[in-house]
Amino acid sequence: MSDKPANTMWGGRFAMSPAEIMQEINASIGFDKRLAPQDIRGSRAHAAMLAEAGIITKADAKEITKGLDQVLAEIEAGTFKFSRALEDVHMNVESRLKDLIGAAAGRLHTARSRNDQVATDFRLYVRDQIDGLDAALAGVQQALAAKAEAHAGTVMPGFTHLQPAQPVTFGHHLLAYVEMIARDRGRFADARKRLNESPLGSAALAGTSFPIDRHKTAETLGFDKPMANSLDGVSDRDFALEVLAAATISSIHFSRLAEEIVIWMTPQFGFVQLSDKFTTGSSIMPQKRNPDAAELSRAKVGRIAGAFQSLAMVMKGLPLAYSKDMQEDKEVTFDALESFKLVIAAMAGMIADLEPVPEVMRAAAGRGYSTATDLADWLVRELKMPFRDAHHVTGSIVKAAEKRGIELDAMPLADMQAVEPRITKAVFSVLSVENSVKSRVSYGGTAPQNVLKMAKGWIKRLEKERGKG
Ligand code: ARG
Repeated sequence: MSDKPANTMWGGRFAMSPAEIMQEINASIGFDKRLAPQDIRGSRAHAAMLAEAGIITKADAKEITKGLDQVLAEIEAGTFKFSRALEDVHMNVESRLKDLIGAAAGRLHTARSRNDQVATDFRLYVRDQIDGLDAALAGVQQALAAKAEAHAGTVMPGFTHLQPAQPVTFGHHLLAYVEMIARDRGRFADARKRLNESPLGSAALAGTSFPIDRHKTAETLGFDKPMANSLDGVSDRDFALEVLAAATISSIHFSRLAEEIVIWMTPQFGFVQLSDKFTTGSSIMPQKRNPDAAELSRAKVGRIAGAFQSLAMVMKGLPLAYSKDMQEDKEVTFDALESFKLVIAAMAGMIADLEPVPEVMRAAAGRGYSTATDLADWLVRELKMPFRDAHHVTGSIVKAAEKRGIELDAMPLADMQAVEPRITKAVFSVLSVENSVKSRVSYGGTAPQNVLKMAKGWIKRLEKERGKG
């Protein structure tokens, strides 16, 4: 217990200030000061509405707005003194406002509670983050599509089970990620739509007896409408959960690409090179070039998925309406979204930096009997074999080639005919990796002409989008 005076913001019925440890567990200013710009935005909207509704005077609203501008300027300049005794950003701002403008500051909190205030601030913050993330994700898509266009015809092995499966093009592989990111952006956009309702005016939990205009504050803050239930308004955090879920899924996509870059970078694969800009050396092994940025991007998903899990556990079983547990929503969300932003930026940089080594990819694409399916398809097409039989015949030919230690296109015709006498030399036309990829013209397939068209389509779409944004 402390013998200092009680908190001036809410301490009317308190004789003493909180214990040191109470302050420590209770205070959120250490992290929620990040919400100051959103807090001040919300307060300005609230004050203007209060004045318009005749709840406070126009003169007071003017003073409040001027004072809030000053507070924001101080925070931006780094001269603002945050106090832990004032617990959180809301009371720090209001307390400073009182220093600056005096009594009028005390009218700002009319028809409002920290409960709807923090819900509003946090929604505004998450919405701002979504907008930044969307632009950043579009940037990665651009980098990927540009690389895909340049490598629409660069052949590489396509894998299943990380075993050589069928040849594909590098451009096709990169465009797979452009599609994933498009869905990621869709998830954020959907979350944004649901998020974009204003809790402000829910007050502590039950609404208010003052004639406030919630539609007006919603509109001022760029929300589509006010939330329809005040209890829900102060106690909902599913908007944050949804955005963390979207970030988790998207960062899983990036971790897969990061993992591929790590694999491709190994001397055993040697498919791609990253420059000095995106690699690091070893303090003991002079030969090393390590893909640390890719590894860290792969790892960040742990924090992001952890943030979702953390907030889900905070919210689970919380009775309506607000509980202080919900203060735990912020740190994990801040950290996850900051980490995610970093991953996106690092990946965008790496993709632009990444140079494939076409000869190595091409040689690898030809190994492991990767055109066996083409051979089976040829038997179906030319000899009218049922696919199951063609699969079996091809398997026997692969086995014979394996025994001889050669690839399919090096198999003498006679050896193939020993398995299936009707095979002619025309079969060789489908056994090269180039012809294999060229033949995959089905919609969404890997044929260079498809890939080029898709890459160009994406580039155009993304450019158009950027023009609009
Ligand atoms: N710092 C608090 C939070 O982040 C603000 C709301 C506090 N409300 C209250 N009734 N104590 O959740």
